Amino acid sequence: GLKLLKIVIYGTGYVGLTTGAAMAFLGHEVTCVDIDEAKIASLRGGKSPIYEPRLDELMELAGGNLRFSVDPAPALSEAEVVFVAVGTPPMADGNPDLTAVQSAASSIGRHLGLGFTVVVNKSTVPIGSGHWVESLIAEASGEGDIRNLRNRCCVASNPEFLREGSALCDILYPDRVVVGSENPTANEVLARLYEPILQQSFTAPWFLPRPEGMGAVPLVATDLASAELIKYASNAFLCTKISLINEIGNLAEKVGADITHIARGMGLDARIGGRFLQAGLGWGGSCFGKDSAALIATAKEYDIRMPIVEAAREVNYAQRDLVVTKLLNELKILKGRTVGILGLAFKPNTDDIRDAPALDIAQRLIDRGARIQAHDPIALDRASCQLNHSGIRFGPTAEAVAAGADALVLTTDWAMYRDLPWKRMAKTMANPLILDGRNFLDQAQLVNAGFRFLSIGR
Ligand code: UDX
Repeated sequence: GLKLLKIVIYGTGYVGLTTGAAMAFLGHEVTCVDIDEAKIASLRGGKSPIYEPRLDELMELAGGNLRFSVDPAPALSEAEVVFVAVGTPPMADGNPDLTAVQSAASSIGRHLGLGFTVVVNKSTVPIGSGHWVESLIAEASGEGDIRNLRNRCCVASNPEFLREGSALCDILYPDRVVVGSENPTANEVLARLYEPILQQSFTAPWFLPRPEGMGAVPLVATDLASAELIKYASNAFLCTKISLINEIGNLAEKVGADITHIARGMGLDARIGGRFLQAGLGWGGSCFGKDSAALIATAKEYDIRMPIVEAAREVNYAQRDLVVTKLLNELKILKGRTVGILGLAFKPNTDDIRDAPALDIAQRLIDRGARIQAHDPIALDRASCQLNHSGIRFGPTAEAVAAGADALVLTTDWAMYRDLPWKRMAKTMANPLILDGRNFLDQAQLVNAGFRFLSIGR
């Protein structure tokens, strides 16, 4: 039978909470801790502080297996696995702020129980941080000799590959599970943790159905540094894949080709694969930008250059200029024009606006004297709080931001934007021009509704 584990998770942010809910659903005994008392109180009331589809339902199903506390001590003394999933926001110089990781590590050291505990870094930390965390735990535990600590505690890497908006499916039905540690026992404990979901027969509740045709989940057990690098390398590959299709798209546009057809033709080659080949305004979000920069920075410490990753970044951030260029081409003058922006989140099904192309684009247009009115179905509240001095006006509906505008730019491919009352919207605009930044809309439908239609790479 399944050997259930006692788990403590530091941090009830995005990664911590979704991981905690999934592990508790599997039957493990999970305690999520956070220093934010208001957050813990709201979680105890069954309310999640983040927006993620199906999270509330999964938390409810997890029931008594999922507990919340501001005090890590009681749960920690019995924990077999501890996840560190606290925030590592970028500082002004681009490096992640590791203060929260540091205090979590010290707290673990102080309260460590007598059994064997595997500490897993889920926070995105620079490569090599595993050893640093181990030394902090040793120091706080009063264990002078790190070799003594290693009998009780071991730091492992178990990178997550979850995407916001489909985090629960990504955790419960992953393409692979990666665990890495210098200690074989630690890898075994982590394998046990994931054992249920590795089986082909595993299914989560009805609202998270198993993807069709999905086989058993492979487990990659390796050393600490390799596991840490797998995460960075995978993200760098995906960044590069998107930037490559965008680079080809810019040429396609000039020679009269269609990037969506090119992507389809390329993606059917099994060696390439069709996913992450959508051309458009490029990637944003809390991971790709930060992780690719961190990879380059780490390599630099070893005197290694990463020209491919650097180029992927350069291409990605240049895509955001395309909006200014294309609108200038059409409108000639941006000063005094009103541009409606559809979508603030960096991608659909999330309220996350970190490194979102929309914000950058809005800023670039504002710098040129344009007026911006923006809408988002989910991220609007968050955006209007965080950006209330930005000069962006926020509209309650897509129709409201279209009214009186000289152009609309679709920056996030939210499903609800597919079938807006386009005919009516075109009539209320000063100039019915739309730039589909995600190659998401039906061109014929928009043209039929009276729009001049622009897209990217076509
Ligand atoms: C990503 C990784 O996918 C995940 O494995 C990792 O753990 C964290 O970072 P996330 O940032 O949540 O996840 O979003 P993802 O779905 O990967 O999208 C990232 C960005 O790329 C979005 O802005 C999206 O719009 C863009 N994108 C994605 C494209 O521009 N084209 C594509 O073909 C795919």
